[in-house]
Amino acid sequence: MAERLILGQVLAFEGDPGALGLGAARHWTRGGVLVRDGRIAAFGDGADLRGRHPGAEVTDHRDCLIVPGFIDAHAHYPQTGIIASWGKRLIDWLNTYTFPEEARFGDAHYAAEVAGRYLDLILANGTTSVASFATIHPESVDAFFEAARERGMRVFAGKTCMDRNAPEDLRDTAQSAYDDSRALLETWHGVDRLSYVITPRFSPTSTPEQLQALGALWAEHPDCLMQTHLSEQVDEIAWVKDLYPAARDYLDTYEAHGLLGANGLYGHAIHLEPREVDRLAEVGAAVVHCPTSNTFIGSGLFDMGLAERMRVGLATDTGGGSSFSMLRSMAAAYEIGQLRGRVLHPAELLWRATGGSAEALGMADRIGRIAEGMEADLCVLDLCSTPAIAQRAARAEDVWEALFPTIMMGDDRAVAQVYVAGQAV
Ligand code: GUN
Ligand code: ZN
Repeated sequence: MAERLILGQVLAFEGDPGALGLGAARHWTRGGVLVRDGRIAAFGDGADLRGRHPGAEVTDHRDCLIVPGFIDAHAHYPQTGIIASWGKRLIDWLNTYTFPEEARFGDAHYAAEVAGRYLDLILANGTTSVASFATIHPESVDAFFEAARERGMRVFAGKTCMDRNAPEDLRDTAQSAYDDSRALLETWHGVDRLSYVITPRFSPTSTPEQLQALGALWAEHPDCLMQTHLSEQVDEIAWVKDLYPAARDYLDTYEAHGLLGANGLYGHAIHLEPREVDRLAEVGAAVVHCPTSNTFIGSGLFDMGLAERMRVGLATDTGGGSSFSMLRSMAAAYEIGQLRGRVLHPAELLWRATGGSAEALGMADRIGRIAEGMEADLCVLDLCSTPAIAQRAARAEDVWEALFPTIMMGDDRAVAQVYVAGQAV
């Protein structure tokens, strides 16, 4: 059977270097990854792999660094066209920019055009998997999954449900949200590399009845992920308090309606009460750090210390986030860590964007690491992609010092090649 040997520098993690130390990472200056049937069959020293697999088709990326494809654990593909919109904070930003754009996705042709454009943009940035919100329209989910399927990508997505506090053309009902979500789930979940995600947008745009209906759907399909937003901005939290006077806190609005669990993925999670942290940890839920969004819309500084108690993914949150790039997200995570007095090592940043996000998405056995049997989604980084980066990397004494300038200053020019299930994109 056809084997492909991809040569270059290789960086492979056994687990979270934040918890396990740098010993969890292995680096080969002249390494290789052997791919067979879309999976990683072997990895390690390049010359050794070459000797043992003389029939493999060889691609040599020389000094470039082979890492797992990046995994964006929270994004809104329909917001592609309104990324970098000026001057608003969360609620005004939603009303001014986001909702009018999302209203266009009832048009299946428009949805298909943006879905393809979005996936090509993230692939160019080295991202091979994403968990995306769609819009309220089932067509927007079909368009996204069809585009991802054409590209062979492992993606996660769901219809964004809203039955109040949104324009009329962007509102469903408790019943139609349940019915449409269930039909989409039955059509797409587990097809090829696609996973359906139950997706209430956030508590302010759902009635308790809608949250309850989606909680019931999740109870019927507990293997599905459920994604939403939690405690992103202070004004939003006050609004949630008004809308749900009986709730103990923001998380309780989900918990009370069957929307708290180990397969729950809670985006932002910045201004948490101690009870909320305890409950998230107790049930084994995952939270997602969206650093470029949290600075761009002025939300606040995520506490990476949460990673000691729960799974934490990293994400762009496009288009509240100001970039399609997980390199840019790692850089912003580093800067926010500095502002909170927590210095994140390049190994921790890279882990968050790969294995950490895979863990958050419950897919750590398939994606996010270079290891035998894993799906061969890979990103090949040119560590000297611009003169500014190259002159700094030239002084590097180890791989971390060589990688860090690309994390801080790199963009799509640093992405030399991407492989999806072993195929060059
Ligand atoms: N909260 C509810 N909807 C959204 C959204 O689309 N983006 C962000 N950043 N936060 C949200
Ligand atoms: Zn979001």
